[in-house]
Amino acid sequence: MLILAPMQGLTELMFRKVYHQCFPGALDCSISPFLSLTHGNLADAWKKIGDVLPEANSDSIPVIPQILGKEPIEFVELANRLYDIGYTEINWNIGCPMRRVTAKHRGSGILPYPDEVRAILDHIIPRLKPDLSIKMRLGLHNPDEIFNLIPILNDYPLLNITIHPRTGKQQYSGQVDLDTFARTLSLLHHKVIYNGDICTTADYRRISQRFPKIQDIMIGRGILYDPLLPLKIKNNHPDDLPATLHFILSLTDAIDQLPIRQESQMRKIKEYWCLLRRSLPITEQQAMTVLHAKTPDETRLRLRTILDNL
Ligand SMILES: Cc1cc2nc3c(=O)[nH]c(=O)nc-3n(C[C@H](O)[C@H](O)[C@H](O)COP(=O)(O)O)c2cc1C
Repeated sequence: MLILAPMQGLTELMFRKVYHQCFPGALDCSISPFLSLTHGNLADAWKKIGDVLPEANSDSIPVIPQILGKEPIEFVELANRLYDIGYTEINWNIGCPMRRVTAKHRGSGILPYPDEVRAILDHIIPRLKPDLSIKMRLGLHNPDEIFNLIPILNDYPLLNITIHPRTGKQQYSGQVDLDTFARTLSLLHHKVIYNGDICTTADYRRISQRFPKIQDIMIGRGILYDPLLPLKIKNNHPDDLPATLHFILSLTDAIDQLPIRQESQMRKIKEYWCLLRRSLPITEQQAMTVLHAKTPDETRLRLRTILDNL
């Protein structure tokens, strides 16, 4: 199975829907960007519920809601509400590397504290209506932190654990630590999903050959660098520039429809463009013409010019 990684600000419902319309079946499932229980604030987390409402997601990549937080009572409340609207799996984010998150022992900030992880799982597991899966890193400061967590994680009925084999401190830089990942894999009793730095079919092949036990792979940035990557992995799909440009145009249309100020629309369009342009054999100058567009209409026009010239 190929799973779309959660990426706050990038893989929300609008993106997932456009992707599904352009490349149906390319991705089997997705984890939503996190609903945050900051200070245990349920109302704040619920504000973002639109992203995972089942009706809105019916013509999109199937989604599993993700929760970021360490407040067990509110976690159970939010997860059970999500179950009541139709979700049988909830994902717990203990991998987020952002400083303001980790400083409060949230996200990957909880990884050096196995007792806190156990206390939370002790409270939530017997009370949760949905099944629980986890998305995590190897540690916050040190990749060996995971070895103190494995005996705890093995004690609970988890659906699966996605591991991004970096530490929180690394953020997204440096190498993924595949040797520690291999040791982790041999000790965890749960199904493990691999996530990290799969940007080409060769990257995918390297991971699946080294870890034949791994069935499911989660991909984040690789899909924004090359939206055809899942189809290339699954069906040997060749490069298809018109399909890629059609996707970028559809995304631009969808952003144009968002009920936000044009300034914010353009910021979003440019953010996606800076990532997606990597998949096109275009010059820096051509890329800049899109970056300098002032409106969604102008963006579309310039994208079409690029398409005509390819
Ligand atoms: C902009 C951005 C936002 C992210 N937001 C989330 C998030 O909401 N929840 C989460 O678990 N991981 C989040 N991540 C981490 C990704 O899900 C993924 O683990 C990471 O990008 C590594 O995978 P990749 O190399 O395939 O991109 C985010 C990453 C980025 C770059």
